[in-house]
Amino acid sequence: MRIDKLLANMGYGTRKEVKALLKGGNVRINGQPEKSAKVHVDTEKDQVTVMGEEVEYREYIYLMMNKPGDLISATEDAHDTTVIDILQPEDHVFDPFPVGRLDKDTEGLLLITNDGVLNHRLTSPKKNVGKTYYAEIDGRVTEEDVSQFAEGVTLDDGYKTKPGHLVVLSSGEQSEIELTITEGKFHQVKRMFEAVDKKVVYLKRIRIGELDLDEELELGEYRELTDEELQYLMKITKLD
Ligand code: URA
Repeated sequence: MRIDKLLANMGYGTRKEVKALLKGGNVRINGQPEKSAKVHVDTEKDQVTVMGEEVEYREYIYLMMNKPGDLISATEDAHDTTVIDILQPEDHVFDPFPVGRLDKDTEGLLLITNDGVLNHRLTSPKKNVGKTYYAEIDGRVTEEDVSQFAEGVTLDDGYKTKPGHLVVLSSGEQSEIELTITEGKFHQVKRMFEAVDKKVVYLKRIRIGELDLDEELELGEYRELTDEELQYLMKITKLD
């Protein structure tokens, strides 16, 4: 990779600013001063320093966000603030995007990465990765709903969902539930409840597979996945 691209990717400025950095003699490759922006480096082998500080090259970024209910799950939007808009500049340089979608008013666990392969694997229905939601429902959720969800329910467009695992946490005029589904159809949780004549009034994703939302994260906060969490996601989505 060209040295100017690498340094720009790592957040050392625009290509123009990086060029100036190089011209100013601030960059060394394997100890040797380098002024050309065009020279190529091998990110596996070459040691690059800027003003004496080693540049740690990384290609991918993996973030977990506690999405608030006023951001949209997209990289950019003409009207609304997106989950990417609120990232720090040093994370922006990786060109990350959200893995799958949560509705604007849905809160909770959202993964953000620039790893297209992991994104594809996590969102593929073939992988059967469970996504667990906590929801508050207007209406009394019954054991009959639990059985219907276990069989799959028919949505407004005639599509029959795969089985969903519904756990009733409390049942009354308003109910609290947890639902695990392995698909990601548009507004799926809301539409599954509509199929049994009930309305979701609050929705939060709390888990993907066995990866829990870090409850330490306030709404709108995010952190990098730990190595263990990342290994787990790689393992459950591994190609057979
Ligand atoms: N199901 C929904 O209805 N909305 C979401 O944001 C996620 C799942």
